[in-house]
Amino acid sequence: MNQNFWKNKTVIITGTSSGIGEAILKELSEIDCNVFALDRTPRKIQNTKAKVYSFSCDISSDSDIEKVTKEILSKSETVDVLFNNAGITIHGRFDETKIDVFRKSFGINFFGTINLTLQLIEAIKKAKGAIITTSTVSGLYGVPGRSVYSSSKSALHAVFESLRIELSEFGVRSIIFCPPYTKTNLRTSGLTASGEKLNEAQYQGKILTPEEVAKAMLNAVEDKNARLVTMDKSGFFVKVLRLFAPAFLEKVMFKKLYKDFHH
Ligand SMILES: NC(=O)c1ccc[n+]([C@@H]2O[C@H](COP(=O)([O-])OP(=O)(O)OC[C@H]3O[C@@H](n4cnc5c(N)ncnc54)[C@H](OP(=O)(O)O)[C@@H]3O)[C@@H](O)[C@H]2O)c1
Repeated sequence: MNQNFWKNKTVIITGTSSGIGEAILKELSEIDCNVFALDRTPRKIQNTKAKVYSFSCDISSDSDIEKVTKEILSKSETVDVLFNNAGITIHGRFDETKIDVFRKSFGINFFGTINLTLQLIEAIKKAKGAIITTSTVSGLYGVPGRSVYSSSKSALHAVFESLRIELSEFGVRSIIFCPPYTKTNLRTSGLTASGEKLNEAQYQGKILTPEEVAKAMLNAVEDKNARLVTMDKSGFFVKVLRLFAPAFLEKVMFKKLYKDFHH
């Protein structure tokens, strides 16, 4: 991480109460910059080199977003980096999924993210800023047992690609970051296909720490050429196979993830 890059920057991070967002906030707390942390429950964040403002914002609430963006923009006319990080996961078979679960999940992962970005876009343009959106390897292809999660994240790819092309003339950058399995609260706080709290155990295979992911995300923002970023073989594998061998990719996913969608 190049500390000089972040010095005096105005940064917004959603979902800093745990996991990847918390780790990004921790890294930036050590630097002389302004950070706006948006969470459902605001907290007192003390003893940081950065000036950290903590705001209450349920990302799926239009009124919360309107209120919080007004407050942010009254403190800073420009936004250098927006981390669209808050999100939930949803596990379950498509044929068992309630439509309300699609609606609720899109309300958080998709509409919340888009709405916040829209409200801040002029401030980002003024700063020639960067937007980094936490997607997932499951956003690169529809994954079995993840139709809601995959679709709510991959829909973001299209928006943030369009935006990247349109706003390149203003110097705005858009990075879509797809972390692999990471050890966070995501599987506890997520939803089942019927809308219950997920409460699932951590993934048992290779898993990254939120700190490793946060560092890679900060590096991605510093990299002027970063677009669609994956971190390991799983992401690379899906990125390549979806284009050149989709039938093989689907067979692998069926076999590897069978227990995730067939119970
Ligand atoms: N963990 C993984 O394996 C993994 C892999 C790929 C991508 N991701 C993505 O990484 C991002 C961060 O997740 P995480 O893994 O760090 O999980 P996490 O520990 O559960 O963190 C998720 C964060 O999002 C916030 N959030 C959820 N719903 C919200 C809402 N309606 N309004 C505002 N904030 C809300 C949570 O806040 P509350 O405390 O209020 O719930 C929490 O701070 C997510 O977008 C996730 O899809 C995670």
